[in-house]
Amino acid sequence: MRIRNKHRKSSAFHCNAGSRWSYLAIWSLTGFILIVYFYAHIHQNDKQDILVHLNHLVDTREMEKVEREEFHFSPPKDRRSPRAVKRKGPRKPSTIIREFLDASSQVHSFFFPSKKTAISLIKEGNDSMHFYPGRLWLDTDGNPIQAHGGGLLYDDNTETYYWYGENKDGRTYHAHQKSAARVDIIGVNCYSSKDLWTWTNEGIVLPGEETNVSHDLHKFNVLERPKVIYNGKTDKYVMWMHIDDVNYTKASVGVAVSDSARGPFTYLYSMRPHSCDSRDMTIFKDDNGEAYIIYSSNDNSELHVGPLTDDYLNVAGFMRRILVGRHREAPTLFKHQGIYYMITSGCSGWAPNKALAHAAESIMGPWETMGSPCVGGNRVLRSTTFFAQGTFVLPLRGLPGTFIFMADRWNPSELKDSRYVWLPLTIGGLADEPLDYNFGFPHWPKVSIYWHRRWRLPEGWRNEER
Ligand code: GAL
Repeated sequence: MRIRNKHRKSSAFHCNAGSRWSYLAIWSLTGFILIVYFYAHIHQNDKQDILVHLNHLVDTREMEKVEREEFHFSPPKDRRSPRAVKRKGPRKPSTIIREFLDASSQVHSFFFPSKKTAISLIKEGNDSMHFYPGRLWLDTDGNPIQAHGGGLLYDDNTETYYWYGENKDGRTYHAHQKSAARVDIIGVNCYSSKDLWTWTNEGIVLPGEETNVSHDLHKFNVLERPKVIYNGKTDKYVMWMHIDDVNYTKASVGVAVSDSARGPFTYLYSMRPHSCDSRDMTIFKDDNGEAYIIYSSNDNSELHVGPLTDDYLNVAGFMRRILVGRHREAPTLFKHQGIYYMITSGCSGWAPNKALAHAAESIMGPWETMGSPCVGGNRVLRSTTFFAQGTFVLPLRGLPGTFIFMADRWNPSELKDSRYVWLPLTIGGLADEPLDYNFGFPHWPKVSIYWHRRWRLPEGWRNEER
């Protein structure tokens, strides 16, 4: 009995042990298969990622080429009488920026080349689809594009890009002896395009006001940096812009609205956001549909950022002061992999200065300054943002991490002849020049804007499946 029991026990044991072993074997095999499967799958994903990355690299290689630029200019002739030279001494060598701004200097024509070199649809072959920063850019009617201080909107409804900007096609003059050059308000122009190179004039979508002097848009006032975003909830296109008086003391923002991306826009009102003065500004629509305004305030000494209401027609109650005491303006905002980025300029009116890149984990800050994003060209080009000032950054949907940096090369002697400087901007690699070093901060990826005399968008820039 005992033996039987023992036997039974032992046989039972053997039997159990056998089944446990086979369970173990089955589970081990399943585990092994799962591990192999996951490994293969992860590897497959890796391979796909690597493939996408390689494609991306091939696509963006041209854009990220570092191009050096050399220019030498002989100093201008001193046209003063020998007596004046003797009395006051030789004239101080003029800085390149002064030369750039002086309409009579040879440098000026180098940065504002004549119509002969214009980017035009009529030109075929090699020039087609190429961006030439600084050259005149003609629309489909053959007229110079008038969309300064502008921004782009990709409209999903019409699968079209719209470019809104200041129409400055008027006389440049100074309202007072010491005031900045200006052009009367003509209105906000809109251009449409499918390829970002061929632009059709859709006309003035928000006109200036000729007669009513108390209207914000009366021609003697200031309308700058218009930007448009689409509100999915209200199905409206909402435009925000800098509204000011001739002396820049009104320091407000204006809001206009339309049922269509092609306008016309109805002007609603102006306001001082959060009861603060506001000059250069932009708006930004986040992935979740929330929109924000960001503006230079406190006499341009700091920036303010705050959310808009759900209908985008007003500011919500709160804002944060950022980059306090930094004196930055011309903000442009963009986002990549959950991080917010911004390019700003210094405050020097129409004269170009050095751009800085900033990054933040939350749009409300804190924002960290990384240094100049400009790459290539030469020292002078980099320290003047390629003789331009940023106005908008457009993400290229098919090439994550790749953008177009849109800037204005202002021509204060003839504002209507201001040029566009569009250059590729990429995010990646370690920032080499963090200005605000803080142990608590992450290392942001570097933002780079590459100088090119001539460039084009790579294949796949609009491919949404990548
Ligand atoms: C710049 C500003 C422009 C315009 C200009 C007038 O600083 O970015 O939008 O306001 O000053 O001088």
